[in-house]
Amino acid sequence: MKFSAVAVFGFIPTIFAASLPNDLEKRAGGAYRSCEGPSFVQSGNAIIQQMTCGDGRGGKKISWINLSECIANRGGELVWQKNGNFGSTCYLDDGTNTGPRWNTDLYIWCPNGKGQVVSAAINLDERLVNRNGRLFCEV
Ligand SMILES: *[C@@H]1O[C@H](CO)[C@@H](O)[C@H](O)[C@H]1NC(C)=O
Repeated sequence: MKFSAVAVFGFIPTIFAASLPNDLEKRAGGAYRSCEGPSFVQSGNAIIQQMTCGDGRGGKKISWINLSECIANRGGELVWQKNGNFGSTCYLDDGTNTGPRWNTDLYIWCPNGKGQVVSAAINLDERLVNRNGRLFCEV
């Protein structure tokens, strides 16, 4: 029988993560290690992110994710929340003050609930993961 180093070392972190209690479990994120060229469009309440991601087999795939499934607008701050639906209140402009910045960050306008619209940002690498060329958010 032949073991490859990749198979052995790939397996160990899985066992380790599974043995951690839920509240200590480290969220993975890290999609930007293997994806590039983020861009954003809004369609109704959906904020769609597109990136080109490695598929883990030497190829690349164009991948989309509806970030409204992962992020909420809490008083003008963006927080990770399942079906947070930030796209129902936050909005992109023509790209002057919103969109990708510093590679990993999304900037967007959001009402803060006190009558003002503020510039809000979130580091998408915190929770976005690339699984075989498809983007998911871990929330
Ligand atoms: C995007 O996600 C939001 C929040 O879960 C949902 O209401 C909306 O229908 C989704 N839109 C698309 C196009 O997937």
